[in-house]
Parts: sequence; structure tokens; C-alpha cells
Amino acid sequence: MPCSSGLSSVRMLCLAALTAAVGTGCTGKTVDDTAIGSTFPANFMWGTAVAGFQVEPGCPTIPESECEDQHSDWYQWVTDPELIADTNNHLSGEPLSDGPGHYELYDEDLDNAVALGTTAFRTSIEWSRLFPDGAAEQATTVDELMQYVDPTALAYYNAYFDDIVAHGLTPLVTLNHYTLPLWIHNGKACHADVDTCTDRGWLDLPRIKPAIALYAGFCAQQFGDRVDWWATENEPFAVVLSGYLIPSADRTNPPGVSRADLAIPVAFNLAEGHAAMYDAIKAYDTVDADGDGVVSMVGAVPNLVATQPLDPTNALDVQGAADLDYVYNRIYLNATINGDFDRDLDGIAEEHRDDIAGRMDYVGVNYYTRITVKGLSVPLFGAYPKTDFYPQVLWEEYPAGIADVVNLANSYGLPAVITENGTQPTDTSGDDFLRPHLQSLLGAMDAGADVRGYFYWTLVDNYEWNHGMSYKFGMYDLDTTTKARTERPMGQTYSDIIASGTP
Ligand code: FCB
Repeated sequence: MPCSSGLSSVRMLCLAALTAAVGTGCTGKTVDDTAIGSTFPANFMWGTAVAGFQVEPGCPTIPESECEDQHSDWYQWVTDPELIADTNNHLSGEPLSDGPGHYELYDEDLDNAVALGTTAFRTSIEWSRLFPDGAAEQATTVDELMQYVDPTALAYYNAYFDDIVAHGLTPLVTLNHYTLPLWIHNGKACHADVDTCTDRGWLDLPRIKPAIALYAGFCAQQFGDRVDWWATENEPFAVVLSGYLIPSADRTNPPGVSRADLAIPVAFNLAEGHAAMYDAIKAYDTVDADGDGVVSMVGAVPNLVATQPLDPTNALDVQGAADLDYVYNRIYLNATINGDFDRDLDGIAEEHRDDIAGRMDYVGVNYYTRITVKGLSVPLFGAYPKTDFYPQVLWEEYPAGIADVVNLANSYGLPAVITENGTQPTDTSGDDFLRPHLQSLLGAMDAGADVRGYFYWTLVDNYEWNHGMSYKFGMYDLDTTTKARTERPMGQTYSDIIASGTP
């Protein structure tokens, strides 16, 4: 989850805080020299990443009622006048119609992805687009779900995946990139009263787990002949942090409440949701789409952070940094990969779940930042001992950290894919961002790290959640009025790196 370059005031704060604290700037660009001279493997997936909610809206000719998926909790979150008026929600209020209109213009976007030289494309399916009506919950099998599907949405996704494949791009498809159907998560009602709302999303495990598993199975059944790489959940910890723990100007997710007693259970509900989706995909994707001998690769996409103690000689800070790493990076992976649940965050898993363990083929890593940590002598959230830290610098571009997070993923015995990295001003060459990150990544691979691909966030300027269109992260600039896309300078750098295999 980014504290992006667009957040100039926050970055200034980062810089000031960090400079004061440890005497260095926000852009620590440690580059592993061993990388220079070596190249990425020929079959490495080079891609860009998008998410349905963020790119689909803004069609030039298709009516909004079809172009926008108006049945998700995020649609409600960013368009409801009362939610927007509440400044605590930090919602831009920008109309979704300012978006890039990928729903209509995806063919042009895929041309642009190919023009960059990329070989893979990460995108997402919107559950609420396929199943806008809560009647879908009556289905008890994947086959039964077919009677509730929106035919226009199904046709759209079929045409979409056909086109991705026709462009020679390997699709990596996220099934849950934050958004949930309104019928299973009424973010507004839960924002108003999270204890009494009825459509409770990730708070209601007995309801969401079977429903999201059927949806995952349906997608695997319908699209598995074109898709081999699946991602279940995007940034589970961001859902926890920005939805249930500390919604902030940087990111608010629905329902946007501050309740540690709900947030931590949600983290484990997400782990259970992942396992259920994994099993469903394995059962229903039976086709090896690209003939490489692998029918499906199913992973989750946590956002992993590099951490550092504010004062490396202070034992409390060192412990705080380790504990932030544990809570932020590891509890979800420990649960989904090893089946180890540490629900009270005391550092010891009190429950082992064989029905959850071993359900991960790769770890998709969104890597954006290093966090500098001050240790606390008492936990921030009293009931949870491992929350004994306070982040001092929330956002720091730190290329060396990309090696740390792929090594962390590999330490679970699994390959990694960088599923997101970026959020830089793409009107620069990228020499001071893209190259150092990829040099560091290649250095890790030269030292033995198993990394299968890198996806830059993002292809074209998009609707950045609560921020609307104010951030310009795309390799392609978007004219929000004409919907024209224009390549930015960093795109050329990315093309050069892909063509040479050398950052
Ligand atoms: C990540 C999200 C992605 C995008 C980037 C900038 O947290 O996964 O959708 O918003 O940040």
C-alpha cells in the first residue's frame, strides 16, 4: 500500500523525519554491484499491473451504467455523497468517469503493454461485475452459479482474456483486488455501525468463505483455459490496516473503522478465504493454458515491507522492527503457507490448521517501501503483545528492500513474483528508481533467489482508490477528457531493460 510519490507533503515529512532521525534521505538507493553484468532469465515475466476497479471506469462511449461496476463496496465508498462529505474518510469525490475506460479501451491498452515489450499482464476480475445480485448467494455449487451470472460481464471477461492471450501476454489474474459485492459488504452501513451491520464482508467468515470460494471456482472454470497464474487476494494487510485499524489520508478502505479487536480477526479470515479460493481454483482450472506443463499457479499478493529500527543500537527499536515485520509481513504467510495461526499476536501460533496449510504455489509480492520503526515498551494495541512498535517513517523508497522481501518469500520454500512495484513519477527516466530496484532484484536472483516475474504499477494513470485520479503512476499518461494515452519517459527505460535483460 503506497504512501506514494504523489503525496508530496507526506514524502517531505518522511524526508524530514528520517533526516532528523538517522541522517539520511528518503531515497536510500543501495544497489547490489553483483547484479551489474548479469541478465534476467529469458522466460522471466515482464509486466505491468492494473486492477479492475481502478482502470475500467471512464469509457468514452459505453454508458456509465455498464462501464462502471456499480455494485461493489468500493463503488459505494467513492461515490456516496454522505461518505464523501465526511472528511475522516479522506475520499476525493472525483467521478469515476475521469478514469481511463479500460473496460472499453483495453485493446489499445494491451497494444501499449506490448509496445513496452512486456510479456505478461496483471489484471483483476470484479466479483460484483460477474455477480451484481445477492441472489447468487443461493448457489451451492460452481455450476449453479452460472444461472446468476451477468451475461454482459461474462462476455466481457471472455473477450478480455481472449485479447490478452491474443496479444501474446501471459495473464496473471487477481480475483479479489480489495472490492467486494455490496450484497456481501455494505461498507457504508458498517462504517456507521460496524457492530450491527448485516452485510459484514470479511467480518463474517461463515458467509464470505463459501461465497468467495464458489466465485473463485467459477472464474477458474470459465477462464482457466486462458489463465494459469491466479492471485487470490491483493494486499490482505492493507485491507486490515486501512479498513479496520488505521484508516488514514494515505489509504482508507471500506468500512474505514478503527477497531483492533476486529482488525486482527479479519487478517485471519482473509487467510481462510485464501485457502478456500485456492482449493476451488485447483478443482476447477483443469487446463494448461500455455502448454508449459503447469495447469495453475495460485498465490496471494501480500504487500511486504522492508523494516529498520530507528536506532539500530537501541534494543527496543530492534525488537519493534522485528515485531512490525512479524505482524505486517508474516502472520498471513505463516497462516496460509504453514497453517500456523497466532491470533493473539504473541509470537507463538496456538493453532495449526491442516485444512489451510500448503495452499500457496508462489508468493506475489507488492513491494513499495521500507518502514523505520521505533520500539515501544508496551504494545500499541494492548491485547496484542507483538504490536510494540510505532512507525516513524512510513514511506521510503529503498531499492535494496526488494531483495529482502523476495528472500522473505523464498524463505517459505516458494517462488516469488513481484506483482507490484512503482508509484513513481513516470515522467522521469526511471534511472533513479526503476533501474536500482531491478538491479537489486537481479542481485538477489544472482545470489539464488527464485523470482519469476516483475510487474510495474501501473500501465496507465488510474483511479487510485480514495485519491481519485490525482496520482500519475502510469507508464502512459492519461488525458482524462479525451482518454488519449501518451507514453511517459520511464516507459522507454522499461523497454530498454526488458529488451536487454539488464537493468
Ligand atoms: C497498492 C494497490 C494498488 C495500487 C497501488 C498504488 O497498494 O495494491 O491497487 O493502488 O497501491
